[in-house]
Amino acid sequence: MLFKAKKDIVGIDIGSSSIKMVQLRESKGGYQLVTLGVAPLPPEAIVDNAIMDTGLVVDVVRSLVESHKVKTKNVATSVSGHSVIIRKIQLPIMTEEEMESSIQWEAEQYIPFEISEVNLDFQILGPDARDPSMMNVILVAAKKDFVNDHVAVFKECGLNPMVMDIDCFAIENAYEANYGVDDDEIVALINMGAAAMNVNVLKEGKSVFTRDIQVGGNMYNEEIQKRLGLSGDDAEIVKLGGEVADVDPASVLEVIDDATESLAQEVQRSFDFFSATSSDEKVQKLYIAGGVSRTPKLRDYLEGQLGVPVELLDPFSQVHYTDKEFDSDYIQAIGPLFSVAMGLAMRRLGDK
Ligand SMILES: Nc1ncnc2c1ncn2[C@@H]1O[C@H](COP(=O)(O)OP(=O)(O)OP(=O)(O)O)[C@@H](O)[C@H]1O
Ligand SMILES: [Mg+2]
Repeated sequence: MLFKAKKDIVGIDIGSSSIKMVQLRESKGGYQLVTLGVAPLPPEAIVDNAIMDTGLVVDVVRSLVESHKVKTKNVATSVSGHSVIIRKIQLPIMTEEEMESSIQWEAEQYIPFEISEVNLDFQILGPDARDPSMMNVILVAAKKDFVNDHVAVFKECGLNPMVMDIDCFAIENAYEANYGVDDDEIVALINMGAAAMNVNVLKEGKSVFTRDIQVGGNMYNEEIQKRLGLSGDDAEIVKLGGEVADVDPASVLEVIDDATESLAQEVQRSFDFFSATSSDEKVQKLYIAGGVSRTPKLRDYLEGQLGVPVELLDPFSQVHYTDKEFDSDYIQAIGPLFSVAMGLAMRRLGDK
């Protein structure tokens, strides 16, 4: 996390297709759901992860918070994309404090941006298995301008952005809180959004590989538009199973399946890259999250392509709510969309 804090907090995930908001209360048996909300964004609001229309994003965040009567002003949010660099590096063994004081200097050789222009963070993973005099560290750098654009949105809404996380680590947090740590298997988590997919591979519960794939749900829309000659709006309707005059559902399914196949191949490429850079270790299980994870047959395609079990991440599995307050069918259906927001809502001081 680039910065963090305690107190009551609302998790707000600004995605390129919609803004997701979750508030939880910690209870003895886990978490209690307090608020859940989502509001769409037009495609021009956020492009390549950059906020192009601040006023519009501010309006949507503000109305989401107001319509759900959110009391806390404290926000946990996250970023991802080209302006965020995550690197696994090796350094001589040192303490957390020593690392704090040398991070600026150490980071310089690994980060392709001016160090004065980035926010830095790190996580010590532990001694290296092959050379115990060295330790593995995850280094995170995010361009200040980029982070500040996100901070500005919340400030303009009268909110305090107290936690600034990275999408793939928020997903990891949601996974751990709901599934615990798997020490035996190498598990991959993939957040499948509209514009991109964030891959995070965990070994013994620690992130050992991350990668963004610049392909996501938008690819389906582009293919449907191109091959069936539809508008962007109609493409989204038919993609989600809706009907549009003169469009044959069978031809839509064909385009969807083709797009799913190439998406699965992209995932395969990332897994191959992980294996190539980590002494041939292999991902043994995959959890998928994000809106695109709900695509019919996606799981089958991924299992067929990758040859490992694939599960839909359920970020609500340890979260309690009453049927009176929330519709459980709706939550089950929309759950994967909230994985990042859920991981954010679970952030507390002392997390690292
Ligand atoms: N049932 C569904 N079947 C297929 N695709 C879906 C479904 N529901 C949502 N999607 C797609 O998921 C995407 C939205 O997912 P999500 O909210 O995770 O993305 P985002 O956070 O807005 O995008 P990004 O993180 O890439 O900026 C859209 O492309 C949407 O069309
Ligand atoms: Mg997203």
